[in-house]
Amino acid sequence: MKRIAIVTPGGDAPGMNACTRAVVRRAVASGLEVCGIVGGYQGLIDGNIISMGPRSVSGIIHHGGTVLKSSRCSEIKTPQGMAKAVDALETYMIDYLVVIGGDGSIRAAEKISKSGIYVIGVPASIDNDVFGTDETIGFDTAIDTAVDAIDKIRDTATSFDRVFIVEVMGREHGFLALEIGLASGAEFVFVPEVKYPPKKIRGICDELKKDQKKQKTSVIIVFAEGCGDANALASRIQKATGISARVSNLGYIQRGGNPSARSRNLAGKFGSYAVDLILKSDKNKVVVLQGGRIKAIPIHHVTSREKKIDRTTLQLIEKLAV
Ligand code: F6P
Repeated sequence: MKRIAIVTPGGDAPGMNACTRAVVRRAVASGLEVCGIVGGYQGLIDGNIISMGPRSVSGIIHHGGTVLKSSRCSEIKTPQGMAKAVDALETYMIDYLVVIGGDGSIRAAEKISKSGIYVIGVPASIDNDVFGTDETIGFDTAIDTAVDAIDKIRDTATSFDRVFIVEVMGREHGFLALEIGLASGAEFVFVPEVKYPPKKIRGICDELKKDQKKQKTSVIIVFAEGCGDANALASRIQKATGISARVSNLGYIQRGGNPSARSRNLAGKFGSYAVDLILKSDKNKVVVLQGGRIKAIPIHHVTSREKKIDRTTLQLIEKLAV
């Protein structure tokens, strides 16, 4: 009998619980023993490991966050921390570690795999920045949450003829900002993958002045956190155009909340596929969604390449903002 452990390190994402539920239930039904690591990689280093069964995942499919709890763990990046983590997995006789997490968590999982313990990565992050998968668990929910907030912000923007710069998460990438921008009808989207020299900002200010003449009553600029200082942009716009500009940082509301049906279903399918891989003794793979199909790719492919934004979405946002 194989013994597996599940860990949900790094930023929580809506649907992580649905995925944990799927892994536990499919694994137990297939005769595997299941452990849960409490508190992400820090919990693993500390040996905080519990036994799990179908009832430990009851009533969680609709909850955001992670019942297995999480942490930001810098110790796992050190050789000593990694040695402690591997030691804990060996002490608990874990054959497979299922890592439900984002890019950084999958990178750490690859390092763990070098010790001979098998790992399966399951992409879960609101950022959608994991190479090889069209979508990560939680991405769809975070888009919905942000769009709902922007719809409300637009009411004030319209009432006051204001420019609102809405800062969204996404670390060094613009995947989240782009989808939020398109769905909320934003006039401009700032993503870290694009440079914004002073000339370009001046061009945007000119556009804003033209917008005013066209009787546009509100302007939303979606600003990815990786682009720098949203307040500095607001001051520049206000100074150059005379239009009042405000910043609203959506912050952690984007990470929480009940997962959308799509995030839950992706989580269920990814989790179940992860167990299929383990049952076939497949190892060191990441479960991904590609063109509507779920498949597995080597973990090394995921960690050695960088996912790119779709620039046509950026162009479309501009075309639709006339
Ligand atoms: O990776 C998810 C994410 O929410 C990013 O979008 C954001 O930059 C980061 O986590 C915030 O992390 P922390 O929980 O450490 O504040």
